[in-house]
Amino acid sequence: KVVAVIMVGGPTKGTRFRPLSFNTPKPLFPLAGQPMVHHPISACKRIPNLAQIFLIGFYDEKEFTLYVSSISNELKIPVRYLKEDKPHGSAGGLYHFRNLIMEDSPSHIFLLNCDVCCNFPLPDMLDAHKRYGGMGTMLVVKVSAESANQFGTLVSDPVTNELLHYTEKPETFVSDLINCGVYIFTPDIFSAIEDVSNDREDRVTANLRRLSSLDISTSTRTNIPTDFVRLDQDILSPLSGKKQLYTYETMDYWEQIKTPGLSLKCSGLYLAQFRLTSPHLLASGDGKRSATVVGDVYVHPSAKVHPTAKIGPNVSISANVRVGPGVRLICCIILDDVELEDNAVVINSIVGWKSSLGRWSRVQADGDYNSKLGITILGESVVVEQEVVIVNSIVLPNKILNMSVQDEIIL
Ligand code: GDD
Repeated sequence: KVVAVIMVGGPTKGTRFRPLSFNTPKPLFPLAGQPMVHHPISACKRIPNLAQIFLIGFYDEKEFTLYVSSISNELKIPVRYLKEDKPHGSAGGLYHFRNLIMEDSPSHIFLLNCDVCCNFPLPDMLDAHKRYGGMGTMLVVKVSAESANQFGTLVSDPVTNELLHYTEKPETFVSDLINCGVYIFTPDIFSAIEDVSNDREDRVTANLRRLSSLDISTSTRTNIPTDFVRLDQDILSPLSGKKQLYTYETMDYWEQIKTPGLSLKCSGLYLAQFRLTSPHLLASGDGKRSATVVGDVYVHPSAKVHPTAKIGPNVSISANVRVGPGVRLICCIILDDVELEDNAVVINSIVGWKSSLGRWSRVQADGDYNSKLGITILGESVVVEQEVVIVNSIVLPNKILNMSVQDEIIL
């Protein structure tokens, strides 16, 4: 048997995702019309003998109850949300729930970050991992030399694929091969995490002894949490070059989803993937009474789109949205309950829940996914009045915009 664990983090993480993470946990933000975490979860469905999927995070359980029960029914695989009482780090979180994870005595454990976008080649990783015979195998990808230092960078043996050297977010260039945040481990990973935590405990005790022998007051003693273990710095770095960790390189697309701009890009990547895996989820635009559709578009069944509207490419329209006559949408995410009145235009933007755009209004941006104002974001319940134009801006929730703005953050 095999189990999969997806690390979802918690409310103190994902701050670069504001204002979109104010009311919705980042892992549930929709990409291509499905919650972010849905994409790795549905990739897990392709793993042979998968017994369970666990989501581990420190968000309130309530946030995930509905999603977890509906996805369990849909996939016919138990999906459970396990809540940490506090952040334990990416490896510490896994270790904290080791008894539950080992319940079915799995031979292998997949571990996935929720905020990466790729085609998750999990069955191929499992085959490669079995061939290598190590404790863990990590998905890796080549990125541009300029961007490599934002990730865990590594050197792997070109013949055996062994992980030889690993540095998390290095200050100078190490390699353009990086860690994708997708792993497979044998249960030995738990002993490796335990060793780190025990080592820390020993060091803390030694420190305390030293401090008390020097007669330093207790208030100056630092309190290192021994159960906080990071997978990258504490496990991958020290275990590289010891024939325990191996790499599996993907030649396909891979992106990290830290900002709203990147979420728009990833939404497009997932829509393109639906073309191959689930074409029934894409709008066809066939039929006299449906809108003109260009490229890959997702429209929630409850949305009402006027037949004279033109939408796409890379457009996702969520539940209960109303798209009026003559509306033009290009490269955007329109969230639940949005109202778009006649001839409104949205380009390279995300329109927040319950917002409304008046007639002939425009919400747009240049579409530079990597720059802060490269896409326009409207938070929840923003009103853009008719004929108003919003360009390259971020608008916080509940604002009423009756004048055009450009390159602004409206607080
Ligand atoms: N449950 C839980 N508890 N999840 C956590 C915790 C924690 O205490 N800390 C982090 N996570 C989750 C995050 O939500 C994310 O899915 C994943 O663990 C990794 O988060 P970080 O540790 O913040 O690292 P990162 O995202 O900056 O970088 C990692 O991923 C990159 C790929 O996207 C590193 O592993 C990099 O090396 C890697 O390139």
